[in-house]
Amino acid sequence: MQDSRAQLVEKIENLKRSRKAVILAHNYQLGEIQDIAEFVGDSLELSQMASKSEAEVIVFCGVHFMAETASILCPDKTVLLPDTNAGCPMANMVTAEKLLEKKKEHPEATVVSYINTTAEVKAESDVCCTSANAITLVQKLNAREILFVPDQYLGHYISRKTGREMILWPGYCPTHARIQTPDIVRLRKEHPQAEVMVHPECRPEVIDLADVVLSTGGMCRHVKSTAAREIVVGTEVGIIYRLRKENPEKVYIPVSEQAICPNMKLITLEKVLWSLEDMAPKVKVVEEIRIRAKAAVDKMLQA
Ligand code: 13P
Ligand code: SF4
Repeated sequence: MQDSRAQLVEKIENLKRSRKAVILAHNYQLGEIQDIAEFVGDSLELSQMASKSEAEVIVFCGVHFMAETASILCPDKTVLLPDTNAGCPMANMVTAEKLLEKKKEHPEATVVSYINTTAEVKAESDVCCTSANAITLVQKLNAREILFVPDQYLGHYISRKTGREMILWPGYCPTHARIQTPDIVRLRKEHPQAEVMVHPECRPEVIDLADVVLSTGGMCRHVKSTAAREIVVGTEVGIIYRLRKENPEKVYIPVSEQAICPNMKLITLEKVLWSLEDMAPKVKVVEEIRIRAKAAVDKMLQA
């Protein structure tokens, strides 16, 4: 007979204690995962939490590059990713080899890589950024030429906000690409009082129609403070679980029910339990890559 949800949670809690483990979860994780996590947040908050955690084991409930970032920052900790198939298709749109070729074409360029990249790509970058800090970071950057990888839409948005020209890599998030303008136009008509909130991974024409453009952590903070009672949500739908839990009095309308990141949904309670039982699958970045990748991540965290 299968364990009930309550039994699974109890086993996870016991193992968490005996293994001295902490569960970090991204805002797009299933509700059942958000509920057992010590901390739920966006990519920047999660890397900050990982870097200051005193736990011996980090169970990373998110996608591969996030667990890798934790491993880059905390080489002495065991980092577990409950399903190694949880990748990020956008992160895989740039490889270190392709980036090196591009760098040859632009030898003077400063490489800014979105945190949604592999450790190997971070190792070839000058500085990392997330959607929460990209604008301030690029604004402060002392560079004649900037090469931004891999998200062309985030890059386009930063470029518009900072007035800085950047060479953009043609990557994009397939989940955010499902958030489209006709849906926003229709929802504005149906909900004239609603505030439209979108993620900067959305297409530029979607961003043009939004009231606010925020990282997922920024969205969670914004919903707490806005006077709007109805909110049109232009990002992966998993965030609505947290928004509703923290602000049950508000109404959330997803721009698209199809904006689901299948990789984020691979992490389940069963897999979290199994990973704590087996202490696997582990994510560990090889030292030579880690040192160089850490320099780019540290520059971001110190900015
Ligand atoms: P943030 O949570 O950092 O805003 O990023 C969204 C995302 O797509 C993570 O993969
Ligand atoms: Fe990658 Fe997009 Fe999924 Fe985020 S939502 S993990 S960017 S595919």
